[in-house]
This record gives sequence, structure tokens and C-alpha cells, in this order.
Amino acid sequence: MPIEVSEAPVFRGVVALDGPSGTGKSTVARLLARRLRTQYLDTGAMYRAATVAVLRAGVDPADPVAVAAEVAGRRIEVGTDPWHSSTRLDGRDVEREIRTAAVTAAVSPVSAVQAVRDQLVAQQRLIIGRGPTVAEGRDIGSVVWPDAELKVYLTAREDVRARRRAGELGAGTDADDIARIEQALRRRDDFDSSRAVSPLRRADGATEVDTSELTVDEVVELLAGLAFRAVSTADRA
Ligand code: DC
Repeated sequence: MPIEVSEAPVFRGVVALDGPSGTGKSTVARLLARRLRTQYLDTGAMYRAATVAVLRAGVDPADPVAVAAEVAGRRIEVGTDPWHSSTRLDGRDVEREIRTAAVTAAVSPVSAVQAVRDQLVAQQRLIIGRGPTVAEGRDIGSVVWPDAELKVYLTAREDVRARRRAGELGAGTDADDIARIEQALRRRDDFDSSRAVSPLRRADGATEVDTSELTVDEVVELLAGLAFRAVSTADRA
């Protein structure tokens, strides 16, 4: 029987990638999962799908009781193939809708509801429990999977994050546009960092990586190196 020989090493562990938006987190996480040949879990997509449910039902995102009741009855599914994104709400594709400005504007209060987090964190743990994963979000290293072999907290300067976000939105490079985007980013980060439930923060034992002056490929290579080193250190322990 032929023996399968694969050149790329396979990573057997979990990478928890947390940080605010605009740090390149999603792009880096997806590429890192391809590089390490693991599952890819975008937990933000799950909170965004919950927000689609809330908005479609006409529920006020700022009403935690109504939000919890609405999301409890919904089935939220995300794909874990780093080559293909898919997000479903009650079996229907919402991959495009979750990226709209209306959802981005309403997702912070929805993700601050404890019952919503309990429901989605339980699902996230089941997915990560299936095998090697690169998971990205705000609380992966602190709450969802504190035993991750590698925990990373990505940061970037505010002006850099605003310019990256403007690029994503296809907005111009006008100074006023950038200033407005910077303000909106700061508002969402302040909300995510100051909420009572699972606030955005650097997890214990997380390596902080400032991506301001690095390309995406440089960040991916850096993290791949850290990931393999973390697993080989764990093997020796
Ligand atoms: O990463 P993102 O922009 O798609 O996340 C959308 C929102 O969901 C963000 O405002 C914070 C929240 N979120 C969270 O609270 N916990 C996570 N693990 C992931 C996202």
C-alpha cells in the first residue's frame, strides 16, 4: 500500500486569535488556518447571524430580554472550511447579510447579552472540540478555549485600523472619511471592551502582536512559527 507523504506539517492544536476590528484578524485567521490545515472558526459571524435574526424580527437590539428570546429559538450555523465561508440562519444563507452596515451597527449590543453568549459559546466549544482549529473573536483565549496551545492578541494603531476598514468598505482616502471610520471603530471597541459580559481584553498568556507595520503574509508566517513552537513545547512538557 502506498504511503502518503505530505510536505506541509500539520498543526494539532488550537490557536485563539482575539483583538479589535481592523487589526487584520479575520484575514490572518483564515490564511493561518489554510497554512496550518485546520478548521477556521469566525465567531463574529455567529454574533452577526444572531443580529440578523433580531433585526428581521423587528426586535430592539438594545432590549436584552427580547434579544435573548429571539435568538434562543434560532439555528445559527457557520462553516469551518478556511477556503469557503458560509453562515446560515435557520438553514438559510445569510453570508452576505451579516456584513451589511445595519448588522455592523447593531451587533455590539446583541453580543453583550449573556444568554446569547452562553448559547453561541456552547456551540463554539463543540466545533473546536472536533479538532485542530484557528478560532477568532474577542473572548476565545479568555473564555471559549482558555487552554488553546497558542493565544494571540492582535492590535494595530487606530489610524492604521481606520485606513484598513476604509479599504474594506471601498471608501475613499479622504481625511474626513478616515476620521469618521476611526470614530465608529473606537465606539464599537469601547462598547466591546467595557461590557459586563466577556469584555474584549488580552487573555492571560496571550502574545500581543502589533500588525501596524506588518503585511498579512508576515503576520501569518509569524503566527505559524509561534503555533508550531507552542505545540512542540507542549509535547516536550
Ligand atoms: O469580528 P466581527 O467584527 O465580525 O465581530 C462582530 C461583533 O461581535 C463585534 O462587535 C464583537 C462581537 N464579538 C464578540 O463579542 N465575541 C466574539 N467572540 C466575536 C465577536
